[in-house]
Amino acid sequence: MVHDYVEDELSRRSVFKSEQFLSIDYVPESLPHRQSELRTLAQNFTTLIRSPGRTSHKFIIEGPVGTGKTAVAKRFAEQMVQAAERREINLHNIHINCRVNKTAYLVFLRALREFKPEFPRRGHSPEELLQMLVEVLDEEDRYLLLILDELDYFIRQRGADILYDLTRLTDDRLNAKQRVSIIAIGRRIPFDEDAVDSSTLSTLQRNILRFSKYGRNALYDILKNRVDMAFEKNAVMDETLHVISDIASERGDARYAIELLWRAGKQADSSQVSTVVPDFARQAKADTHPELRKEIFSTLTPQHKLFLLATARQLKETRSDYVTIGEVEEMYHSACEEYRKEPRAHTQIWEWVQDLNAHGIIDTKRSGSGQRGQTTLIGLSDVPAEMLEHFIAHLLDSKEL
Ligand SMILES: Nc1ncnc2c1ncn2[C@@H]1O[C@H](COP(=O)(O)OP(=O)(O)OP(=O)(O)O)[C@@H](O)[C@H]1O
Ligand SMILES: [Mg+2]
Repeated sequence: MVHDYVEDELSRRSVFKSEQFLSIDYVPESLPHRQSELRTLAQNFTTLIRSPGRTSHKFIIEGPVGTGKTAVAKRFAEQMVQAAERREINLHNIHINCRVNKTAYLVFLRALREFKPEFPRRGHSPEELLQMLVEVLDEEDRYLLLILDELDYFIRQRGADILYDLTRLTDDRLNAKQRVSIIAIGRRIPFDEDAVDSSTLSTLQRNILRFSKYGRNALYDILKNRVDMAFEKNAVMDETLHVISDIASERGDARYAIELLWRAGKQADSSQVSTVVPDFARQAKADTHPELRKEIFSTLTPQHKLFLLATARQLKETRSDYVTIGEVEEMYHSACEEYRKEPRAHTQIWEWVQDLNAHGIIDTKRSGSGQRGQTTLIGLSDVPAEMLEHFIAHLLDSKEL
């Protein structure tokens, strides 16, 4: 009998019912263990709807990786907008990732384009953009809930001026309507005590909501919800969820927990079994690292990726904890050759190093005045070199270049 590979593939069963519920962009309807945070936000922002224009709200959400900051802000903003809609208030919610929109100019442009989609990319200063934004809001009687996500990364690169500009913007409008409210999100938002007057500073510091790491039980509940949405009935063993909650509770990171769950499911599929057993979760842990977050790496340019690939290879080859920037540069040239890319100049490379350092992907230090002379040393913050190498090589092979 001839083997029909197509029918074979089509009839192959999967443990997944709807894999998309495990994707990084998906925000579930209900967010277990974040109810009180959502309530706090609601309590603080309701005047925005009860008496629009009276005050400008500013809030800060801080907390470690994967603790639901972005998810909570998104879910909350959506509920705010809906409540406003029901009362015929024009409230808009703009969620800006400041890791991607790296300058004040880009952030304000992104906000302005929400209302003027055709607005030209060049030709104005950031202050002008901000002014125009307020004018549009005034003219059209609109209100804005501006969410500045990953602002800590932005501030490390550019300073905290953006926060002060926005605060001043609202403070200067004593008798006019307050149009803009802000939620700033970061692991830890660094304040510059000198750059802002003490009353603004204390307002900001009074309104900080700190998210804590998820414990084992919280992670279990979060996973359990996702299992019901994403997997076939009885496909995932309860023990598997316990193993994953245990692994991820070390960091309290729900993103990592969900990724492990997804990978464990993939393992089951590729082993052609219908049950996700605990060992698939353990295997998933061995195959990935919580720092290898796709949404960060996908914002890097191909040149950044080539440079990282070179760093990982150099570290692996020399088996040392740090390598010099010169050594990596050499390795980078051969990586460029391999991927048929024109290598960039030394000054550019220096900029990438700063960039990747700010992202927390690499770790830099000055060498002592030993035999290598004074130079910059590069290491990896957390991820094993070989794992990073595979991860980057995979990204480079799969697209873009
Ligand atoms: N309470 C929760 N219930 C269900 N899913 C959650 C919960 N908290 C977080 N998640 C999920 O975990 C993942 C990570 O959450 P989120 O992106 O909000 O983390 P974060 O705090 O913004 O992390 P980072 O600092 O890295 O930006 C997302 O897929 C999110 O949907
Ligand atoms: Mg986030």
